[in-house]
Amino acid sequence: MLDKRNMDNSSECGTILSPNDPAFLHDRIQRYYTKRVEEAWAGGHPMKGRSPQPGDIQLRTNDYLCLAGHPMVIAAEIKALRADGHGAAVSRVWLHQEKDTLSVFEERLAGVVQAEETVLCNSGYCANVGLIQAITEPNAPVYMDMKAHISLWEGVSSAKATAVPFRHNSADHLERQIKKHGAGVVCVDALYSTDGNVSPLADILDIVERHGCVLVVDETHSFGAHGKDGGGLCVALGIADRVHFRTIGLSKAVASRGGAIACSSRNAEYFRYEAFPVIFSTSVLQHEVAGYNAVLDVIQKETWRRDRLHKSHAYLRDALDKLGYNVDASQHQIIALEAGNQLDTIKFRDALESRGVFGAIFFPPATPEKRCLIRFTVNCGHTRQELDHVISVCRDIRDEVDLANWPSTRRKSKTLAPVKDHPKRAREAA
Ligand SMILES: Cc1ncc(COP(=O)(O)O)c(C=O)c1O
Repeated sequence: MLDKRNMDNSSECGTILSPNDPAFLHDRIQRYYTKRVEEAWAGGHPMKGRSPQPGDIQLRTNDYLCLAGHPMVIAAEIKALRADGHGAAVSRVWLHQEKDTLSVFEERLAGVVQAEETVLCNSGYCANVGLIQAITEPNAPVYMDMKAHISLWEGVSSAKATAVPFRHNSADHLERQIKKHGAGVVCVDALYSTDGNVSPLADILDIVERHGCVLVVDETHSFGAHGKDGGGLCVALGIADRVHFRTIGLSKAVASRGGAIACSSRNAEYFRYEAFPVIFSTSVLQHEVAGYNAVLDVIQKETWRRDRLHKSHAYLRDALDKLGYNVDASQHQIIALEAGNQLDTIKFRDALESRGVFGAIFFPPATPEKRCLIRFTVNCGHTRQELDHVISVCRDIRDEVDLANWPSTRRKSKTLAPVKDHPKRAREAA
């Protein structure tokens, strides 16, 4: 029987539910329209802001090194397409040739990230899900930094393992959890995608080694932008040979589509033939790999891109800090402006966009309910003039968006308050 309750779903999103949906599906989907569109977003939609116009400033792509349209990358892809079309559009498990395009690139990438081997996947998301699914067992503990990327959490679910969260960047809390639950896999992001915070990798690694655990580091946002030749933060810290697995999304500094894992040869061989997203999904295509190669050429040659990225980030971050925004978490290229609840964040987004500044809005499930934010990602192409425009917009709208009353602003002022005015710190100091 059809349940015709709430069939008038011609909401602001313009969606009309199919009358053929049985009640259980209808109800599941209805929760989105009721709880999210109507209650949380008052009929609007966080993802549906204005469209950027020519001259507007984009702070929402992860093309940190401005390589998406680089002539060498485009030329390499066109050349590969002309030569081989899409090549063998099949799963990686069927591509066994000794030196095919994919394995030659995997070898090169392994050199850059200082690993014995790398294995290509269809995306960073697939790399994370496939890896955790392949290296954990049902009910085994997997220690998750609370801000680790959702794809790592999905890997834990897919393996039916047990996620044991530890406080963001707290090596001490991680160690306490391991003492309670036993040795297992530990998952962190090298550079956190929502706020630009960096993992204390050396401390985490010490604990992992002390307790016989396995470390997985997601280098998606650090690859290309950090370390020698863009090899990432583990390379920068000189710990690449001690980290069991690293995962890399090729959608950020590489500005493409694809992913990879980096590890020992023994583990790479296992992963290649055991990870479901590698086995049961068609591999990245040859012209995409030609594009990755060209990107690596540019990253290795044009070090000014990384230098400029880091300088621009520091410039924008420091200016926003001085304006009273709580950007304390931001250590590299990503800056979170945390307005709090969803409606305040939509209001903030609108204030920015109406003045030609486009960040990326983050809300549940990407953030906790009351910690929604606009993320600014800097790239090496931003000019000083553009950054100054962003800064002046952020200065002008502070009252309009009620910056003083954002929870993140109150947190910042508590940290800055003299110890005597801050009850928790006064207790700690006593
Ligand atoms: C930390 C992190 N890991 C993995 C991914 C997934 O990467 P991809 O876009 O290549 O699937 C993302 C992308 O949002 C990310 O931010």
